[in-house]
Amino acid sequence: MKPAIKELMNDHQTILRMLRALNGMCLRLGEGKPVTTDDLGAALDFIKVFADYAHHGKEEDLLFPAMEEAGFPRDGGPIAVMLMEHAQGRAYVQALAAALERVRAGETAALKDAARAASGYSALLSAHIGKEDNILYPMAMEALPEARWETLKTEFARIEAERMGPQRRAVYEALVERLLAAYPAPELARPAGGMCH
Ligand SMILES: [Fe+2]
Ligand SMILES: [Fe+2]
Repeated sequence: MKPAIKELMNDHQTILRMLRALNGMCLRLGEGKPVTTDDLGAALDFIKVFADYAHHGKEEDLLFPAMEEAGFPRDGGPIAVMLMEHAQGRAYVQALAAALERVRAGETAALKDAARAASGYSALLSAHIGKEDNILYPMAMEALPEARWETLKTEFARIEAERMGPQRRAVYEALVERLLAAYPAPELARPAGGMCH
């Protein structure tokens, strides 16, 4: 296992635990029980910063371009599918943020929209992670030369330092555990999946 891929897969494990907590929040809302907007807002912040800004940053700014150098097209095939799913994830994030704003403004019925966006995001991203762990990352490990993994590791460390850092990471990891304990949910199904829908 290449250390850079190990790092991405470790990020995935943390993200998957948050997706499980999101499912727990949706279950709770579905039963008509309360979920605080603060907790939903904290999950949204995790998704924006940990999952999208830092983790997807490592993929979009570094890993995918390195795969393009190795001959993978950007506008077709697995990289295009991954980019499209990142974009779909951002649309769910926007929908969740908008719904939360309405809830905060007193429109409690918007909690339903928040739950719909959260569960859509969770389903999308857990399947996406399955594709990366099982298909895309093994392809990258086959295709990239050893020297490229060395530079990727250094470049990953730069993004990690700029966008996350050990303290912030520890705070997010503690948040995931707190939300998972507060909103328990069954293990996520992890379809190995193909690259196509
Ligand atoms: Fe991704
Ligand atoms: Fe990923």
